[in-house]
Amino acid sequence: MATSQVNVGIIGAGRIGRVHAENLAHRIPEARIVAVADVVEDMARKLASDFQIPAVYNDPRRILDDQQINAVLICSSSDTHAQLIEDAAAARKHIFCEKPIALDLAKIDHALAAVNKAGVKLQVGFNRRFDPSFKRVRELVASGEIGDAHILRITSRDPAPPPMAYVKVSGGIFLDMTIHDFDMARYLMGSEVEEVYAAGSVLVDPEIGKAGDLDTAVITLRFANGALGVIDNSRQAVYGYDQRVEVFGSKGMALAANKTTDAVTQSDANAIHSAKPLYFFLERYGDAFAAEMREFVLSVAQDKMPPVTGIDGRIAVVIGYAALKSVKENRPVRVSEVDRT
Ligand SMILES: NC(=O)c1ccc[n+]([C@@H]2O[C@H](COP(=O)([O-])OP(=O)(O)OC[C@H]3O[C@@H](n4cnc5c(N)ncnc54)[C@H](O)[C@@H]3O)[C@@H](O)[C@H]2O)c1
Repeated sequence: MATSQVNVGIIGAGRIGRVHAENLAHRIPEARIVAVADVVEDMARKLASDFQIPAVYNDPRRILDDQQINAVLICSSSDTHAQLIEDAAAARKHIFCEKPIALDLAKIDHALAAVNKAGVKLQVGFNRRFDPSFKRVRELVASGEIGDAHILRITSRDPAPPPMAYVKVSGGIFLDMTIHDFDMARYLMGSEVEEVYAAGSVLVDPEIGKAGDLDTAVITLRFANGALGVIDNSRQAVYGYDQRVEVFGSKGMALAANKTTDAVTQSDANAIHSAKPLYFFLERYGDAFAAEMREFVLSVAQDKMPPVTGIDGRIAVVIGYAALKSVKENRPVRVSEVDRT
């Protein structure tokens, strides 16, 4: 049912909870943040005081019990998402959930079934789809202006690895980091990924290796339409957040370069210098996060289908599983091998 104002509860007041709170508070007049919950109550208190949020809880259940709340944002650690989706659906709240939906396919399917049964909306946090440059690349591919798309290249490198406490509950590089690139791959090419051949290494931080994870990866993709793709990831690019995409086709190419703090180049006798890429996701994807949240709020307010669905969230996890299997078995893996549904 359409509603003029969307009353939102935020679960998880860490890095990404703060991004969404700021956008809701300052850029989305159709929404009002009614409550925030974090198991670390001080985190919730700080967010509430920064954005004048009336209610603060240390238990997300309190948000789900609040009758005036019609939508929740799940911004807690990745291993908590699936259960919170199920609980929020049972409480008849519309849901925005950060990626990944869960680290386990059975849990994802359970959560999506609960969403369907309750008839609530679910949008998954693939913010990069809302980046103006990447949207333009998608439009150029979809309109046929670069002809048939043959090759996709995505470079996605973080400026520094996350804290080890985050790494340990993140689901690993493919489900935590490359998941955005897997979603971009489907989105940009307009074709499903059918096969994955991934190689991974630990070259940045041995602690990441000790936690059973990787910090460097190259993934080759084969799409249903025959096109090929390659994604490269690193947890540490010393020059900043390196986020580039390129689609090469039969009639040309579309390229989205890094965003920098300014567009000035300085030349001298030794070299030509220019600004580094914007530092990290908060800076690089500021506009995209705001647009993503606005679309979610409008989908609730106007009773529209959210632009990124639970199925989109599920498919990216499935591709992540295929990548993991490919590294373990050192061979190309068809996506259908890890998802027989
Ligand atoms: N879309 C993106 O670009 C993007 C960027 C960063 C993080 N994320 C995702 O957002 C989620 C959170 O990441 P973050 O970087 O903000 O982490 P974070 O560690 O900074 O914050 C997570 C917060 O959730 C709280 N929390 C944990 N379990 C909880 C529970 N059961 N109920 C309520 N609060 C709980 C923690 O105390 C913490 O304050 C992760 O799933 C991550 O994958 C997405």
